Amino acid sequence: MNLNDKEKFDNLYSQEDPWKSKSLYAEQVRLKNTFELISKKHYHCILELGCGEGAFTSKLINIGDKIYAVDIAEMAINKAKNRYGERVNFSLQDIRDLKFEPETFDLICTIEVIYYPLPTERGKIIDNLYNLLKKNGDIIFSAPILPGYFKYDEFIDLISRKFKILNIEPVTTNLFKLGSIIKRIPLLSKTGIYELAMILTRKFPKQIARHLAILATRV
Ligand SMILES: C[S@@+](CC[C@H](N)C(=O)[O-])C[C@H]1O[C@@H](n2cnc3c(N)ncnc32)[C@H](O)[C@@H]1O
Repeated sequence: MNLNDKEKFDNLYSQEDPWKSKSLYAEQVRLKNTFELISKKHYHCILELGCGEGAFTSKLINIGDKIYAVDIAEMAINKAKNRYGERVNFSLQDIRDLKFEPETFDLICTIEVIYYPLPTERGKIIDNLYNLLKKNGDIIFSAPILPGYFKYDEFIDLISRKFKILNIEPVTTNLFKLGSIIKRIPLLSKTGIYELAMILTRKFPKQIARHLAILATRV
């Protein structure tokens, strides 16, 4: 599939919950672990990129005064507006051509979206995000560390070109597959298995992280 194709994303959102953030436990773990990296602070103005139907946006409501969220898929934006439209300013925008004033945001969230534009387009996107962020503002990214997405060091290099990295955290693990086998053992709870898998993954992130989140700041 041509991942830049807006129509393809629109079609995807004609299904309910296309990324399975409601039905798949591993997806809920990803969203929860990613949010934990930013949950201790309060931000005045937040921008979320590639918000989809608002699975991560619903968490941002707890830590921000003003929240802006964009996506390239019209159907996703309409669904998100129906759910959270009173608290969030949703708009249909492409992350390669964002329509905001410079130095507007205290936090920018780039969760599972930076890999859709071509590798040659990503440097310019990072430059633009730098301009949209206030000085000392935070920015969080997450992406899969899988073939066709990012290599571990490549993801870190892209972000450190412009931002000072504060924290690098695996938010899901390739051991989840192992988890699905172990969870059949009655004495172990699903939560316990995933916690255990995440402890191991934090020790060996380069080897077993599936999704990596990076928190950085504009200095
Ligand atoms: C994998 S989903 C992630 C959704 C949500 N951020 C999450 O973590 O569950 C990627 C989202 O990015 C959006 N997207 C892809 N390319 C985009 C672009 N160039 N500009 C804005 N949004 C884009 C897609 O429509 C989709 O909603």
